[in-house]
Amino acid sequence: VNQILLLLLVLTVCAILYNKVHQVPSALKNETVDLESPEEMEEEIPVVICAAAGRMGAAVAAISSIYSNTEANVLFYIVGLKTTIPHIRRWIENSKLKEIKFKVVEFNPMVLKGKIRQDASRPELLQPLNFVRFYLPLLIQKHEKVIYLDDDIIVQGDIQELYDTKLAPGHAAAFSDDCDLPSTHEMVRSVGMQNTYMGFLDYRKQAIRDLGISPSTCSFNPGVIVANMTEWKHQRITKQLEKWMQRNVEENLYSSTLGGGVATSPMLIVFHGKYSTINPMWHIRHLGWSPDAHYSEHFLQEAKLLHWNGRYKPWDYPSVHTDLWENWFIPDPSGKFKLIRPDS
Ligand SMILES: *[C@@H]1O[C@H](CO)[C@@H](O)[C@H](O)[C@H]1NC(C)=O
Ligand SMILES: *[C@@H]1O[C@H](CO)[C@@H](O)[C@H](O)[C@H]1NC(C)=O
Repeated sequence: VNQILLLLLVLTVCAILYNKVHQVPSALKNETVDLESPEEMEEEIPVVICAAAGRMGAAVAAISSIYSNTEANVLFYIVGLKTTIPHIRRWIENSKLKEIKFKVVEFNPMVLKGKIRQDASRPELLQPLNFVRFYLPLLIQKHEKVIYLDDDIIVQGDIQELYDTKLAPGHAAAFSDDCDLPSTHEMVRSVGMQNTYMGFLDYRKQAIRDLGISPSTCSFNPGVIVANMTEWKHQRITKQLEKWMQRNVEENLYSSTLGGGVATSPMLIVFHGKYSTINPMWHIRHLGWSPDAHYSEHFLQEAKLLHWNGRYKPWDYPSVHTDLWENWFIPDPSGKFKLIRPDS
C-alpha cells in the first residue's frame, strides 16, 4: 500500500479533460433513454498512448488513425514527460485533432529509479515511457477495461472491436501471441527475429531456470494490450513487474541484445500462462524489423492494426509501407517534428 501511495505522489496527474461533452439535442436524449441496447450507451473507451520526445509524430499518427476509423466514444490518455507535454498539447490543439477527447498525463521517471540497467545495446529502449504500461492502474482511475498501444502503430479497423476482446476470468490482460502468424516463422529465419522466451530471458541464470518455463515457449508482444484493471490490481501486477525489473538490475537476467527486450521480459515472466489472446489481425507486427517488405500490400490492407516494432520506423528512412502510416500523419504545426525522407 505504501508503494502505491508513493507512486501516486510521483505520478503527477495533470489531467486536462477537454470537455467535449456531447451536446445532445433534447429530442435525441429521449431516444437514447428509450433504447435498451448497450451500444447506445456509448461506453467510453480509454486508450493509453505515450508521446515521447523525438518521435511525437508517431503518437499523432496513431491517435489520428484511431479517431478517424471509429464512431466509438474514445478517451485518449496521452502520457508524456514534463518537458514534452507542452509540445504534444499544442500539436493537438492546433490541428484537426482538436476534436478528440483526451487527457494529458505526466509520467515521472523517478518511479523507475534503481529498476533499470543502463547497459542495453539499444539505449532508446530505456526511454522511461517504455515502462508506462507497467503502471496502467495508476494512470487510469475510473475505467475497468483499458487499451494500451505503442506509439509506432496505426489502426485501420474500428477500435471498438479491439476493446471487445474477451478476457478469460482471472486474466488481467490480453496480448498477441508471437506464433500466431505463419509469416512469423519465415521472419525468424530471415531477419533473426525472436519469438520464444529464449530470445528474451537468459537461461544461463538460475533465477530464470527456476521459473520452470520452457525456453521454446512462444513469447507475446506487449505493444498492444487490452487490460482489466480490477484483475491487474487484484493480482498486484505492477508490483510483480517491478520486482522483476529490480531483479534484473541485480542479476542481469534478460537478453539485452534484442529489440523490445527491456520492457518485454518482465511481462513475459509475470503473465506467463495467464493471458488471453488478441485476434492476430489486430496486431500485425514486425513492420520495422527490416528495411525490406515482408507482407503483401493486400494482406496489410486487410489488417486492423499495423505495428512497426523494430528499428526501421515509418517516420524515419529507410522504412517500409511508409505510405500506409503517412495516411494518418498530421504535420507538426510548430515545424519541430520532421519526417525523414530520402528526398528531404
Ligand atoms: C421527451 O422529452 C420531452 C421534452 O424534452 C419530455 O417532456 C418528455 O417527458 C420526454 N420523454 C421521455 C420518454 O423521456
Ligand atoms: C475484470 O475482472 C473482474 C475481477 O476478476 C471481473 O469481475 C470483471 O468482470 C472483469 N471485467 C472485464 C471487462 O473483463
